[in-house]
Parts: sequence; C-alpha cells; structure tokens
Amino acid sequence: MKYSGVISRYREYLPLPGDAEPITLLEGNTPLIEADNLRRALGAPCKIFLKFEGANPTGSFKDRGMTVAMTKAVLDRAEAVICASTGNTSASAAAYAAKAGLNAFVVLPKGKIAVGKMAQALIYGAKVIEIDGNFDDALRIVREIGEKTKVVIVNSINPFRIEGQKTASFEIIETLGGAPTHHSLPVGNAGNITAYWKGYVEWGAKHGTSLPKMLGFQAAGAAPIVRGKVVKHPETVATAIRIGNPASWKQADQALEESDGQIGIVTDKQILFAQRLIASTEGIFCEPASASSVAGLKKLVAKGCFTQKDTVVCTLTGNGLKDPDTASRDIKPPLRAKPVLNDVLKLMNVK
Ligand code: F0G
Repeated sequence: MKYSGVISRYREYLPLPGDAEPITLLEGNTPLIEADNLRRALGAPCKIFLKFEGANPTGSFKDRGMTVAMTKAVLDRAEAVICASTGNTSASAAAYAAKAGLNAFVVLPKGKIAVGKMAQALIYGAKVIEIDGNFDDALRIVREIGEKTKVVIVNSINPFRIEGQKTASFEIIETLGGAPTHHSLPVGNAGNITAYWKGYVEWGAKHGTSLPKMLGFQAAGAAPIVRGKVVKHPETVATAIRIGNPASWKQADQALEESDGQIGIVTDKQILFAQRLIASTEGIFCEPASASSVAGLKKLVAKGCFTQKDTVVCTLTGNGLKDPDTASRDIKPPLRAKPVLNDVLKLMNVK
C-alpha cells in the first residue's frame, strides 16, 4: 500500500477530525536498524536497534509532530506559526509551513545553530530572527507572542506536536512485534521522551504490549533534569540539546518514574566518540545530540545493566549532515596525492 505519512497511518490514535486533509511531507516510516556491529563494539549482551529519525524529510524526528501541529493550525485557519529552536524544530516548522502556505517565524539563539539547520529555515522561506540569548530565552519570548497575537506556537508545548511524535513508538512496536525492554534517547526540551512514553502507554493499553524502561541522556553542560535545577548558561557541543530549562520537565520526570527508567549525563567527549562509533560501525551518520542515546547506553553497558534477554532501542533523532562542522572537527584530514596513478596507489598501500 502507498505510504502517506504518519497522520494517514495512525489517524485513529490522533486527535484530528477524520476528514482533516494532512499537511504532510510523508514523514515517519523511518528505518529501525539492528546494530550488531555496535553491539559487539560496546560488548553489550543485549540486542540493540537504532531508530534513524534522520531519515525524515527535514532530517529529524520533529517532522512527526510538525505534520500534526501544522494540520491542526490549518484547520484552525491560522495565518502564521512561530517557534523557538535549537535548529531542528525551526527547519521542520519552516518546511511544513511552506507546504501549508503559512508564514513561519523562527526565533533562534545567535551563533548556536548548526549550519545545515540554518540553511533549511532560510531556504524554506521562514522569517528567521536571531537573539543574543539561548533557547530558553527564545522560548520565553515565543510563549509571550503566543499570548499576545494569533500566531500559533509549534514548539512541543503545542500538544499536537507530542501527539505526532508518539507515532515513533508505534512504529517500533509494530516492527519488533512488541515493545523493547529499554528505550534510550537524548533529552533537551523533554518533548520527545514525553511523546515516546505516551505512545508506548497508549499502544499498550489498546493492544496489551509491555512498556519499556525509558533511558534519557542530557549533555553534562546542559543537564537541568539530572541536576534538579535550571541551568542558566547551558553549554554543549550538541547544540540541539543546549537547553537549561526544559518545557516538558514535569512530563519527563513522570515518564522516568512510571517506566522505572533513569536519566543520566554524557560529556561532550563521550557524545562525539559515540557519534563516530555509530558512523564507523553501522554506517549511520547522526548529529551529536542524537549520539547521546548511544553514549548513555555505553555507560550503562559498562555498569552491567543489561542481559541477553534485553532489547534496547536508541533513537538517533537527527541527521549528521545538518552539522558537518562538528563532525569534521578533530578528525583525520584526507590524504593528498599528485594526479598520477602511482601516487594514489602508494597512499592506498594495497597489492
Ligand atoms: N535531538 C535532536 C537532534 C534535537 O533537535 C532535539 C531537540 C533533541 C534531540 C531533544 O528533544 O527537546 O524533545 O527533548 N531539538 C529542539 C529544537 C529543541 O529546537 O530543534 P526534546
């Protein structure tokens, strides 16, 4: 059957009228890849699967939520949408607004948006506004604009975003034939951990599937939930999760508690190591923030937290091509040869 996007696929689970015409770029239906090489590299006893959300149309999981939020905005006759973003939400909002014929405004922390994400927002035609502040400042301003004007907020404080994002859990359960025992993912504004948990719980209530333990990871310099207090000046190489005061903090705490899960810290060094490990063992290029799910898994494996009976899914939330600068830093540069056969052969060092 022709694939038509997450709204068509999971309409009965979404709070949209049955006849609503989806604003879609055919998001979702992303690969769930068994990562046996990675499992061996980590010395993990459990099965590991990677849900590669970088395969979505704008290169991140945000598209799942944006199709639902934008469809709802059109139903409500909105003329414009707005979001604060560390880059991916703005790329997705700009793309779906273009498809819907709506104006998009995006408010971004100056100098902290990966180059590909900025290019996306601009080329999709959003009005991009940079502020001398961080994501938390941007979201505060956007909330006020949402109160003062008719412009619709499409951050994950918009419940339709969470509704769309929960479909990733549905896909995982359908592909595996059941829920995994553990689900690992990066935590920034905490919308996605909220959405995954909602998805697992709702599917479980309807179909009797089990519930995974949720494993969340924050960057060491931006770990308000782990530390139990707002981080005023969050810092991390994983700019996507450079957030000090997550909007869905309470919901994340609830998901962690209800699932008997845990939230931990990963350093920038561990994040970048994991990003390269995923790429070099599995052939998947994810962005730094995404790699925190695997960096965190690596720490738990070393502590002996898993057995052969466990299945862990790690969400790789975004595509590495969005942030080539970070990926190329501290990496061996290309070899150089003169444009003659023997020079190239010499460098290849093969017979
Ligand atoms: N991974 C990536 C690649 C992200 O872009 C984000 C969030 C997260 C993980 C964390 O997800 O916020 O739901 O906990 N990016 C937002 C943005 C903040 O503006 O693009 P979360």
